[in-house]
Amino acid sequence: MSALIQQLKETTGYILQHCNTVPLVGIVLGSGLGNFIDEMKVEKEIAYSDIPHFPVSTVEGHSGKLIFGEIRGKKVVAMAGRFHFYEGYTPQQVIYPIRVMKMLGVQSVLLSNAAGAVNNSFEVGDLMIIKDHISFFVRNPLAGENESELGPRFPDMSDPYSSLLIAKAKTIAERLQIPVHTGVYTAVTGPTFETRSEYKLIKVLGGDAVGMSTVQEVIGAIHCGLKVFAMSVITDIGIREEDNIITHEEVLQAAKDAEPKLTAIFTNLIHEM
Ligand code: HPA
Repeated sequence: MSALIQQLKETTGYILQHCNTVPLVGIVLGSGLGNFIDEMKVEKEIAYSDIPHFPVSTVEGHSGKLIFGEIRGKKVVAMAGRFHFYEGYTPQQVIYPIRVMKMLGVQSVLLSNAAGAVNNSFEVGDLMIIKDHISFFVRNPLAGENESELGPRFPDMSDPYSSLLIAKAKTIAERLQIPVHTGVYTAVTGPTFETRSEYKLIKVLGGDAVGMSTVQEVIGAIHCGLKVFAMSVITDIGIREEDNIITHEEVLQAAKDAEPKLTAIFTNLIHEM
């Protein structure tokens, strides 16, 4: 057995000692979007720092724990606080919790993030369902020896975001009268926000939004056979020439303001899974 598989077994072994429900859905929440947890009937919380081999979260706006419980009758596990490459974690550490979720029995992951708009028609507070991504600016978390017990050497990436879940989410949004965009998320490493020229470049490449998370986790999830749904909250308009000084505080506030819309879509989607 490889060292990674051994570690994953020790991690899941520890978690199962403390909580033995099998979650159907894994949830990863973005900056300023952690209040989603309030929707959960919580069964068990486990601090990252108590879990063997789990990375520990440091960034402001993220607490670090794995929360097991139920949302609208479905068993879920949520990460309160995720790991970003810009914090100094390796891409393999960034996707470690996704692999743990898979080993715990999760079938689908729902991810959220705060993102900057490069599509001119977007406004702060808008929601964007991610239909595809551009990962070229970040390190691929599968680089290195392939863990064939987890997934293939060369995973297909023609359709990483489940079209079934996207269609369901659109129907739900329509029913709840929540406007949503559908677009392409471009991943960057951060921690700097983009220069004006970089936002323009991302637009030329076909991105609608840009952010510092999610894509490595999606690659990890697809590698191990999980279904993926992801949604961005637009927290700033990167592409706008005037008035585009972006601060982390502004990002957190915009995420917080838009969170109820995202929460409504996520909870309904989970209910229908
Ligand atoms: N760029 C990158 N990451 C982000 C942004 C942005 O404009 N907004 C929120 N996260």
